[in-house]
Amino acid sequence: MSKKKLLILTGGGDCPGLNAVIRAIVKTAKKNGAWDCYGSIEAFNGIIKEPTDIVKLTKSKISGIHVRGGTIIKTTNKGNPLSFPTYDKSGNLTYKDISKALIKKIKDLGFDAVINIGGDGSQAISKALFEKGLNIIGVPKTIDNDLSSTDITFGFTTAVQIATDAFDKLVTTAASHNRVMILEVMGRDAGWIALNTAIAGGAEICLLPEIPFNLEAVINKINKRYKKGKGFVNIVIAEGAKIDGNTIGKTIEGDKNIKLGGIGNALRYALEKKGCQADIRVAVLGHIQRGGTPVAYDRILATAFGVKAFELINNNQFGKMVALRNNEIISTNLSEAVSTYHRVNLDHYLIQTAKSIGISFGE
Ligand code: F6P
Repeated sequence: MSKKKLLILTGGGDCPGLNAVIRAIVKTAKKNGAWDCYGSIEAFNGIIKEPTDIVKLTKSKISGIHVRGGTIIKTTNKGNPLSFPTYDKSGNLTYKDISKALIKKIKDLGFDAVINIGGDGSQAISKALFEKGLNIIGVPKTIDNDLSSTDITFGFTTAVQIATDAFDKLVTTAASHNRVMILEVMGRDAGWIALNTAIAGGAEICLLPEIPFNLEAVINKINKRYKKGKGFVNIVIAEGAKIDGNTIGKTIEGDKNIKLGGIGNALRYALEKKGCQADIRVAVLGHIQRGGTPVAYDRILATAFGVKAFELINNNQFGKMVALRNNEIISTNLSEAVSTYHRVNLDHYLIQTAKSIGISFGE
């Protein structure tokens, strides 16, 4: 009997742990024996392209990849089939819904099911494709931890560890120079990476998208730490925090989200303009947070997600996303998975923890 064909793809920004998910799916499928696994290179683009760019995920291709960052089947955030960039006859860029043709092509190529490993944007695509008749399920990933239907996403713990390591290094240089060090971290509109890093590193000030801050309060906190010009302050700021009500970043054509970045320097200049006397420096961590080896926790979570994802496919339970809830791996409907954005809620125990040890949110 010929084997069934499973298509795997990774979409959106990369994140440590993607390869561990791929490896777990392929290993479980091999053990099951009824499925062959394939990877579409650069999310759906590998299918959309002519000729297609698809690889068979053999044992040798996935061997040992759980320790590697990135994704062996590549990714993109420029391949949304519901709004696909195309050029019209006059050479103008337009966006077309090519989802119907994509689904037909996936079926014509003989694929029985698809696993889409991605963040909220990718899972919104999974949901739409499922509703249009594709046998698809989702696996959540993101360093931002901003998906509401899972307690945590893989990649997040690695990003927090990287940010904390960077923070620790900034503390020694801040202390040596009596400086204020600002560390800008990622997280989009959610402050999870910043909040966790601030507590793990021992920041004096933590500025989040969820809590509007005021420059005077930040300066007062800085001044309390300076006695006769001596002292130092470490600040963690999330890239999505707002300064005077504005987010800092660039709008890029075709991208529905503003590309965040620059709030660290904007804060420095705003503090200096307001008369802050301290010597201020800024470090922007950027994509370092997404690179390199996943920490053990993320490898384990990613592996458990991969195993569950294959189980759903094998049991014909489509339109679902795997998730971790109350220490159990479960599945949830894709429609529920993408319904709410997961911000830091102000009654979260970590907000209270931070306040109790004197971390200021600049309020
Ligand atoms: O969603 C993950 C993330 O790293 C965000 O924290 C960040 O704002 C964004 O992606 C950066 O995207 P890009 O890789 O397109 O610069």
